[in-house]
Amino acid sequence: MALEILKKIIKKAYEPVLAEAEAFAPVNIALSKYWGKRQATLNLPYNSSVSMSLDLGAKTKVSATSATSADLIIINNKVLEKHQKISQFLDLFRPHADFYFKIESQSEVPVAAGFASSASGYAALVLALNRFFGWHLEGPALSVLARLGSGSACRSIYSGFVLWERGRDDELGLDSFAKPLNIDWPELKLGLCISTASEKYLDSRTAMQHCAATSPLFPGWVQACETDCSNTVQALLNKDFEQLGRLVEANALMMHAVMQASRPAIIYSDANTLNLIHRVRKLREEGLQIYFTQDAGPNLKLLFLEQDTQAVTKAFNDWKLIVCKNQSHKNPLF
Ligand code: PMV
Repeated sequence: MALEILKKIIKKAYEPVLAEAEAFAPVNIALSKYWGKRQATLNLPYNSSVSMSLDLGAKTKVSATSATSADLIIINNKVLEKHQKISQFLDLFRPHADFYFKIESQSEVPVAAGFASSASGYAALVLALNRFFGWHLEGPALSVLARLGSGSACRSIYSGFVLWERGRDDELGLDSFAKPLNIDWPELKLGLCISTASEKYLDSRTAMQHCAATSPLFPGWVQACETDCSNTVQALLNKDFEQLGRLVEANALMMHAVMQASRPAIIYSDANTLNLIHRVRKLREEGLQIYFTQDAGPNLKLLFLEQDTQAVTKAFNDWKLIVCKNQSHKNPLF
């Protein structure tokens, strides 16, 4: 099925046009989340989602290796021993069966700790492959290819605020791709609260499938998501920070409620997560405009406006806090 999609997207034969090619793709943090696949092989989501790309991400270099039996995958200067998932994805692009890739990737955020490192990783890989093979593909096609690696990666091929519409084509999923929103809001900041950089205990693919199969809250989640997503886009268009913050926080808490109601329960939060959640709520009671979101890991992400950066940094001075910007959607990545 994936091969059929490739035939439609990449019409020419695959032969490298460069000895090596490099690309950068940003980490994206969902403001209204994707959680659940209506089609698992193609990563087709039940619902649309919207995200903010950060100024941090992954830089990935693609070349051929002279190795004769396997790809060589190096992440943050370490050779990856288990890379079945990446190699299966690379299977789609091999010029011939005994062609092996050398992939060197540097990630600016901790890998597999709920900081969307896989999204930026797969997006950077697709952008680098586009150059390596001289495909000259545009956004929708690149987004579809990135989605085949990891769902949320389809949003990481753009800067700024990005909408991934779920699409209706369940067979090939060619209408399920992300597009940039025509919004610039440089005053909106996102703080990554690094309480742990360790690998998450359950990968998002397994966790999503488990929720869809066992969580009694899952149907309600799918129903609420489309409205959350369009309201979030509207709050971004209006630059209504309070409305945005409320939606973002409620959406993340609903996703975690779905996880916690699954059987057996999935609990990504740890004691630090809960401490931080209470701290954010208390700061808000005291008048600071600050909201949070959380993905498939214990780390919290804070949402606030530039004018409050100093107050936020002070309130979290006992944490490792990385304050991130979003870059203009006019910033081209391909
Ligand atoms: O694309 P995946 O399989 O890494 O899943 C992403 C899931 C969340 O980060 C929790 C939500 C999202 O929309 O990014």
